[in-house]
Amino acid sequence: MAKVITPVARGVPPLRAGQGSSFFWRRLHSLSGIVPVGVFLIEHFISNAFATNGPWAYAGQVRFLTSLPFVLLLEIFGIYIPLLFHSLYGFYIWFRGEANVRDYPWAGNFMYSAQRWTGATAFAYMAWHTYTMRFTGIHLMTNPQAAFSKVQLELQSHWAAAFYVIGITAASWHFAYGLYLFCAKWGITVSERSRKAMSVASAVLAITLIAVGMATLAAFFRPQWQNTPANLPAQQAVESAH
Ligand code: HEM
Repeated sequence: MAKVITPVARGVPPLRAGQGSSFFWRRLHSLSGIVPVGVFLIEHFISNAFATNGPWAYAGQVRFLTSLPFVLLLEIFGIYIPLLFHSLYGFYIWFRGEANVRDYPWAGNFMYSAQRWTGATAFAYMAWHTYTMRFTGIHLMTNPQAAFSKVQLELQSHWAAAFYVIGITAASWHFAYGLYLFCAKWGITVSERSRKAMSVASAVLAITLIAVGMATLAAFFRPQWQNTPANLPAQQAVESAH
């Protein structure tokens, strides 16, 4: 029997992959990349950028975050579960193979692959980063004043510093291009012109996030803040946060 080839339009198709529950999970995956995972990523970049104002400003911001009401529930339901869902379902979409490729006429194109590889890189980085920052060494929930010193200590390893550069770049790229994909799939950017504008906006966003991330990293290497003690005087930390 002759094989029927369905012509497909070029560009990012609207979200139509799967039917029934698969369609639901696909939509949820797409949405979760923006809310809450993307929102958390932006918050994380902003909070860490306080390091550019020095160890006391950084301690003040960490103290503010760790003292939020219901912080553990916020962490579990606002970050860990959505991030795990987006990541694991992202791997599932990736490795589902053939069936998925048919949904993407632009499969094989560089940005398509980059979205998967940056996701995987960000995943490896986040797993390591969460483990070292949250589950090893001095606990920042109870010792927020030690935040600057803890990061500084970690960055003494050139391997760790290089992994930070790679992780920040991968997450920035993935989120910025993800925003472009989201707008195309949810019918926010329909015309060719609006998609072009959105691609420029996401490139600017990626560059901005990478620049902010690198400036933040550089703060931990500034000569005047070298060897910051883990026991920063609490009073000073509070003062400089205001
Ligand atoms: C820094 C954390 C992350 C953020 C902020 C984020 C954000 C996003 C956004 C906004 C999208 C576009 C949604 C859409 O396709 O409509 C997306 C897509 C995607 N993400 Fe993530 N993501 C993150 C981590 C990950 C991880 C760890 C993986 C694991 C591989 C991953 C895999 C994917 C895949 C495969 C897509 C494309 C889905 C498709 O083409 O249909 N993401 N992400």
